[in-house]
Amino acid sequence: MSGFQAPRGMRDLFGADAAAVTAVERAAYAAAEAAGYQRIISPIAEESALFERGIGGATDVVAKELYRLAPHAEDSTPLALRPEATAGILRAYIQHGMRSAPQPVRLVTVAPFFRHDRPQKGRYRQFTQFNVEAIGDAGPGIDIEVIELGASFLKQLGLTDVEVHFNSVGCSGCRPAYAAALRAHFAPIEGELGEVDRTRLRDNPLRLLDSKDAAAVRRAESAPALPGHLCDACAAHADVVRAGLDVAGVKVIDAPRLVRGLDYYSRTAWEYLLPGVEGQQGALGGGGRYDGLAALIGGTATPAIGFAIGVDRVVHALHDRKIETGAVAQPLTVICGIGEGSIGERIRLASLLRATGSAARADVTPRKIGKQLEGASRDGAVAVIIVEPDGRYSLRAMIDGKQEEPTDEASVLRAVAALVKRT
Ligand code: HAM
Repeated sequence: MSGFQAPRGMRDLFGADAAAVTAVERAAYAAAEAAGYQRIISPIAEESALFERGIGGATDVVAKELYRLAPHAEDSTPLALRPEATAGILRAYIQHGMRSAPQPVRLVTVAPFFRHDRPQKGRYRQFTQFNVEAIGDAGPGIDIEVIELGASFLKQLGLTDVEVHFNSVGCSGCRPAYAAALRAHFAPIEGELGEVDRTRLRDNPLRLLDSKDAAAVRRAESAPALPGHLCDACAAHADVVRAGLDVAGVKVIDAPRLVRGLDYYSRTAWEYLLPGVEGQQGALGGGGRYDGLAALIGGTATPAIGFAIGVDRVVHALHDRKIETGAVAQPLTVICGIGEGSIGERIRLASLLRATGSAARADVTPRKIGKQLEGASRDGAVAVIIVEPDGRYSLRAMIDGKQEEPTDEASVLRAVAALVKRT
């Protein structure tokens, strides 16, 4: 037996777990593509500086959780595994001049991301996100579209009680005054704060609102809220988004201290939360507007908005509530045979059936026909074809054991199709 194990916080998914993840991934692409979002497949690693500058050096995601790659001798730019999609997708938008396409550019990706966090149920070092970005539209209409898309996706999967917690984190005009108010609020307890939080107090007080340290968490409960500090334009933007969502059938819950864990947000910020679920597991997803990010990473100022929903957490939630996702696909027809000489013919027939769109596999293990039939029955096969030593076929309907002997290949295919149709 090998002593190797999957890396901590990274999982092997197989059987029903892999089927459930695949079903959610497919549903995610289907929902986004039906709404006009096109797939983008971007690299799994980017320059570390993209994340440091874009997501923010004071965020947990960059300061503590970034997987930095050891550089090859000939490479001068340090790379890191991507902890999220937004910075890389915006980098691609800028690099490929997508500004000249009709705006907004609507993009979707369902893919793995990496954060060196402490693993627990629902929190992994490799996890999958359903990520949607709409780039090049200052809103507020696109804000409503994107928030509704994520909410209705979760509802359609069966998570009907999902809550949308909503806030505005202001813009570069009004946020400094809010940051100052926060600094004043936390200053009296500076001595109780850890080193990281003391740095945040000085450089980036908004990050104190998502600190996990007890002293900061306690103080955050009475911290000034954002809405009182918004400029007129930000407040008006938030009002239109809230009203539009109401008409679109999405009830939002105001969350005046919601800032999210990444630095690039401006104005609209929200989270999809499942009530009554412990810890972070209930945080199914979140997103926001990031109008300042393009300029920060070297592009022309471009408004944008998006969200990411954690596929692993969605799968856990569906499982905990016993909501069916996709079952493991099984071959409907198994082609058995007598004698090793028929194995090539069994494989040819299975391939032919699959080419006609019907799931099929050949039994290729050296074993008696009785064992082959047991295996087919265990797999839930609908039909079994037996290739006789003289090359003739017999066909067995597994539902009632009835057997027939089609005379040629065309009648085998017709008979199988009729049996599959009956299921
Ligand atoms: P985020 O809040 O960091 O946002 O992540 C979004 C979701 O990804 C979380 O709500 C959670 O469901 C899932 N997630 C995050 N970390 C883990 C983990 N370690 N294990 C399992 N699931 C996890 C973003 O990533 C932003 N890029 C979202 C966004 C897109 N904003 C604008 N556009």
